[in-house]
Amino acid sequence: MSQREVWNSKIGFILAAAGSAVGLGNIWKFPYITGVHGGGAFVLVYLIAIVFVGLPIMIAEIYIGKTTLKNPVGAFKECSKGSNYFKKLAKLSPAAGFLGVLSGVLILSFYSVVAGWTLHFLFLSFKGFSGTKENIEAHFNHLYSTPSLMILWHTVLMVIVIAIILRGVQKGIEKASKILMPLLILILLALMSYSVFNGGAEKAFKFMFYPDFSKLDEEAIIQALGHAFFTLSLGMGVMITYGSYLKDKISIIKSSVIISIMDTLIALLAGMVIFPIVFSSGLEASSGPSLIFKTLPTLFAKITGGSVISVMFFLLLFFAALTSAISLLEVVVVYFVDERKWSRKKGTIVVGISIYLLGILSAIPKITVGKESVLDFLDDITTKYMLPLGGLLTILIFAYFIPIKAIKDELKLPKYLFYSFVWICRVITPVALIWVVLNKVGVL
Ligand code: PHE
Repeated sequence: MSQREVWNSKIGFILAAAGSAVGLGNIWKFPYITGVHGGGAFVLVYLIAIVFVGLPIMIAEIYIGKTTLKNPVGAFKECSKGSNYFKKLAKLSPAAGFLGVLSGVLILSFYSVVAGWTLHFLFLSFKGFSGTKENIEAHFNHLYSTPSLMILWHTVLMVIVIAIILRGVQKGIEKASKILMPLLILILLALMSYSVFNGGAEKAFKFMFYPDFSKLDEEAIIQALGHAFFTLSLGMGVMITYGSYLKDKISIIKSSVIISIMDTLIALLAGMVIFPIVFSSGLEASSGPSLIFKTLPTLFAKITGGSVISVMFFLLLFFAALTSAISLLEVVVVYFVDERKWSRKKGTIVVGISIYLLGILSAIPKITVGKESVLDFLDDITTKYMLPLGGLLTILIFAYFIPIKAIKDELKLPKYLFYSFVWICRVITPVALIWVVLNKVGVL
């Protein structure tokens, strides 16, 4: 059997995992859902969700990957073997892995289309945005109503992702992350300095950090919980897969905390880039999904240095999307490599092309499922149902089927912290997730 690939360094692993976590979710979605739900109180709930739901699942996933050295399906199979109780139930664990792999296929198919939008806007930024508000907003309307254009960018994106995954863990994923992540952070800091010094920062800060609880409803809480997952790339085995390439002694707790903090900080920084620009132009923050592709380009046309800022901004968005897309493809490919004994080359090409073809459906808004476009439909079923369900199964398998002693030996936490952690994983995280899932299914 060929040797499992490994990360070349700890920092390589951290950057790749953070690269997966930091994506369109942080820079596109987080600011707009924060805007829609009125700011501070939503951010607070989101932060609580990161700590009590996101972090425990991240730790569980990395633990499972690192100790089993397998893809999600193989890993869950392995975990269920050690189970002392619920033996029959434990046998079903691999289903959670399949759910993850399927989520990977579906998410990448539409994620690549949206990532393609960022490329289109990067391209437009080089020419610069000008004209009236209607002219500028027409760019997005034009893109969205021209499937061939969306398919073109989707093709470009998938080709890049496939090329990186073909090169493997060290030369592909790790190398790309080591280049793209530092660049991403630099661009973000530069943009933030610009934003903060050009007015609107105080209002933006207040908006994001002063909680107004009157704006917090059940829907906002569910959104915050759901987003905590999506943004940390949890519930579909990315962290299991990336954890399975660890060879070094590494502290699972420390790495999980670093990855979560990086992801959260970058989301908050993205807010501090976007909201000051919006507020200093006298607009409201609640414009929803079109914030990035309509509102911002209109503002970029007005502000000083706007054309440079817009190139940097869409480059940032593209880098973030690319490192996330890489992780999505890797999960699916490595399942075929491990479980079906395919070569990486065959796996990457067959899986990559299949997902590419499926993605074309998301690039044709006229095709609908019920009343929704395929893109919205896939976004809905994966982020609202499949990921929370995958996360719930992961935490249950971790907290109930894996012998507690094994976890204790690996995590090496002080006693009181360890037992608090176990109870969070056994009760708090699952209850929060069951609540989300039941709510979504419409039972509550
Ligand atoms: N975390 C990524 C983002 O914030 C999305 C993602 C979800 C990536 C699940 C991989 C797996 O955009």
